[in-house]
Amino acid sequence: MIADRVETLLSQLTLEEKAGQLCQLFAFTPNNEELDAEIAAGRVGSILVMRDPSELDRLQRIAVEESRLGIPLLFGFDVIHGMRTIFPVPIAMAASWDLDAIEAGQAVAAAEARALGLHWTFAPMVDIARDPRWGRMVEGAGEDPYLGSAVAAAQVRGFQGNAIGQPGRIIAGPKHFAGYGAALGGRDYDEAEISDHELRNIYFPPFKAAIDAGAGNVMCAYMTLNGVPATGNRWLITDILKGEWGFAGFTVSDANSAFDLTTHNFAKDSADAGARALHAGLDMEMSLSTRSSAYRNLPGLVADGTVSEAALDDAVRRILSMKVKMGLFEEPYVDQTRIDGVLNDPAHRAAARTAAEKSFVLLRNEAAALPLNPAALGSIAVIGPLADSARDTLGPWVFDQNLSETVTVLQGIKDAVGGLVDVVYSPGVSMIARLNPSFFDALPGFDVAPRVEVDDNLEIERAVALAEASDCTVLVLGEAQNMTGEAASRSTFDLPGRQQDLLEAVIATGKPVILLLMAARPIDLKGAQPSAILNIWYPGTQGGAAVANTIFGKSVPGGKLPFNWVRSIGQVPLPYARMNTHQPKDIDNRYWNEQGGALYPFGFGLSYTAFEYSNLRLSTAWVGLGEDIRVQVDITNTGQCAGDEVAQLYIHQHHGSAARPVRMLKGFWRVRLEAGETTTIDFALTAHDLTYWSSADRNWVQDETAITVMVGTDSTATLSAVFEVRRNAAIFKDSD
Ligand code: BGC
Repeated sequence: MIADRVETLLSQLTLEEKAGQLCQLFAFTPNNEELDAEIAAGRVGSILVMRDPSELDRLQRIAVEESRLGIPLLFGFDVIHGMRTIFPVPIAMAASWDLDAIEAGQAVAAAEARALGLHWTFAPMVDIARDPRWGRMVEGAGEDPYLGSAVAAAQVRGFQGNAIGQPGRIIAGPKHFAGYGAALGGRDYDEAEISDHELRNIYFPPFKAAIDAGAGNVMCAYMTLNGVPATGNRWLITDILKGEWGFAGFTVSDANSAFDLTTHNFAKDSADAGARALHAGLDMEMSLSTRSSAYRNLPGLVADGTVSEAALDDAVRRILSMKVKMGLFEEPYVDQTRIDGVLNDPAHRAAARTAAEKSFVLLRNEAAALPLNPAALGSIAVIGPLADSARDTLGPWVFDQNLSETVTVLQGIKDAVGGLVDVVYSPGVSMIARLNPSFFDALPGFDVAPRVEVDDNLEIERAVALAEASDCTVLVLGEAQNMTGEAASRSTFDLPGRQQDLLEAVIATGKPVILLLMAARPIDLKGAQPSAILNIWYPGTQGGAAVANTIFGKSVPGGKLPFNWVRSIGQVPLPYARMNTHQPKDIDNRYWNEQGGALYPFGFGLSYTAFEYSNLRLSTAWVGLGEDIRVQVDITNTGQCAGDEVAQLYIHQHHGSAARPVRMLKGFWRVRLEAGETTTIDFALTAHDLTYWSSADRNWVQDETAITVMVGTDSTATLSAVFEVRRNAAIFKDSD
C-alpha cells in the first residue's frame, strides 16, 4: 500500500529532513558541490532545470546512496511543447481544436522527457488569457474556459497517461494557480483583480478539468490575486483546490514565489513567508538557491509552535506518495541505453509535423490564392526575417534546440519544390532586438536567434526586386520567439521593426503575396491586404515541412482561432463571450473612430474547401433541470477537396439568476469530410454545461430559462434553435 510506505518513511524523518522533502532547487550547472552536500544531508526533495541524464543520475546517486534514508529526488523541467522533438507552441495546439493530436503531442514530450530521466513537467499552462498584451498567452489555450478545459485535460492525459507512474510518462503540473492571465494591463507578473463569477466561470474551469483528469501537481502563481499573493492564498490553495476540488496531489510554488511573499509586502520576513505559505497549503517550495528559501525556516517554526507538525506532515506525505507512485524507489536511475532510440524516433517528428499542419489558421485567402500549384510556378520568392530562422521557428520555452534538424519555412519550401521551382530568398529587413531584454535572453540555451543584420532600405529594395521577378512571394513575418512568452508583454501589436514597410512594398508589386504570420497574438497589419494570410504560430521542429505541405495543398488548413483577433490594441480586452448591453444592436460599435468588433472572431479559420451547416435539430423542445439535451446538425463539404472543419456549438441563456454572456462555447468537434460528403454531428449539451456560478446567489445554479443554441463554423454562427429548461420535467414531461 502506498499510504503505508509513506507513513513508514514519514515516521523516520527528522524535522529537517521533512523540510528537505519540500525543498526544490534549480540546478543550472553540473557538479555543484554545494548542491551535492545539501542533497547528501537530506535537505533537498526535488531538482529542476537540470536535464543532462548523466548528471541526473549522479545527483540521484547522492540522494539514494548518501542521504540517511535514501529517498530519491524528483526531477522537474519545463516540458512545455516538446523535449527534443518540438511541437507547435501550446496556443497553436489549442488552435487545432484536436484533442487527440494535443494528447498525442504531450505523450511524445513525456516519452522523451522520461527517457532523459525527468519525472515531472511544469505544464500545461492553463491560464485563461483575454489580454494579448500578456506574452504568456502563447503558453495557454486562449480566452475560452470550455476550450481551455478540454485542452487542459487532453494535455494531462498526454503527459501522465491514465494514472501517475505509467512507463514513459511524467507528472503534469497545471499552472499558474490562479488568475495569472488577468495581469493588469497585460503586464507580466502584475496583480490580477478578478470577480468571483469570473474566477469561478472563466479562470478556474481549466484547472478543475486538469485535476479531474488526474494531474498530480499544481503550480501556484507569482502574482497577487484580489490583494493576496496567490502563493500565500489559503482560500485558493486549501479551500478551493484541496478542499472543494479534493486535489490529492502536491502543490509547488513558482520560482521563489514563497520567499517572495516578503517582496509582495505580505510576509514580514523569510520565516513568516515560510509559515504563511505552508498555512496556505503550499507543499513544495521552488527556490533559486538555499539562500532564497522560506521553507528552510520550517524546522524552527515547528519547534517554536508557529506551524504545526501536522501541516508539515501533510505536505511531506503528498510529495512522498508521488515519489512512490512514480516508482522512484524501485527505479531511481535513467536507462541510458534507451535514450537515443526514444529521442530519435521518427514517429515523433511525423507527429510534430501533422500537429503543426492541424494548428495553422487560414485568415484570408482572396481568389483562392492558396494552395499554390508548384507545377504552374517558375519561381517563388521567400522573404522575411523569420523565413529562415530555426530558433524562431521553434518558439519560446525551448532550451535544448536542435537547430540543425529544425526545418525553417525556407528549407521546407526548398525541400518540397526546390527541384521544380526556382526558390530565392531575402530576409527583407532585420529583426529588431527588444528594447528591454528579458532575463531569459541571458539564460544558456534559451538565447535569442542569431540575427541577420541588414541595411533595411537596401534589403527592402532587393526583396521587392525578387518579388517582382518571381511568380509568387511567400512572406514570413511576425514576432521573434523572445517577443512572446514569459516576461514578453507588449504594448503594441504592429509588426516589429520595418516589417510593415516590407509587407506594403512587396504587396505594391501587384504579384500574389502569401503572408505567413509567425506570432501568438493578434498582429495589426494596418489594413494591408496580401492575397492570403496563414497564421503559423511557432510551428516547431517540423514547422517548415508542415508549411510546405499546407501552402502546396497536401494538407488543408483546418485550425481555428482560440481568441478574438482584435483590430487594434485599444479594443483589448475583447472576449467574444461578453455580456449584453442596453444597446445590443450596437455592441460592436462602441468606439466612434473604428469598428469595434473583432477583425477575426474567436473560432474563425478558413479552409481550401467550404462547409455548409443545415438541419439543426434538438432532441427535445424542453428539458428539466438536471437533464441533458442532444443537438444535431448536418455539415456538408461543398467545395472541391477534402478538409477538416471544427463544428462549434454556442449557447445563450435568455434570463436567470444572473446575466450570462451573449454566447458561450459548449461543444466542438473537428471532423474530416471528403468533397461532397455530408455528416451529422451530435453534440451532448449537459446540465453541467448549463450550470454556472451566480454572483447573485453566490452559488452554482441552473436556471429555469430559455436557451438559444447556435451552431456553425465560428463564434458568429447564426444557425440556431431554442429550448426551454423547466422544473420537474421528469415527472410532467410525458403529459406535456
Ligand atoms: C515560470 C514558470 C516556470 C518556472 C520554472 C517561472 O518563471 O513562471 O511557469 O515553470 O519559472 O522554470
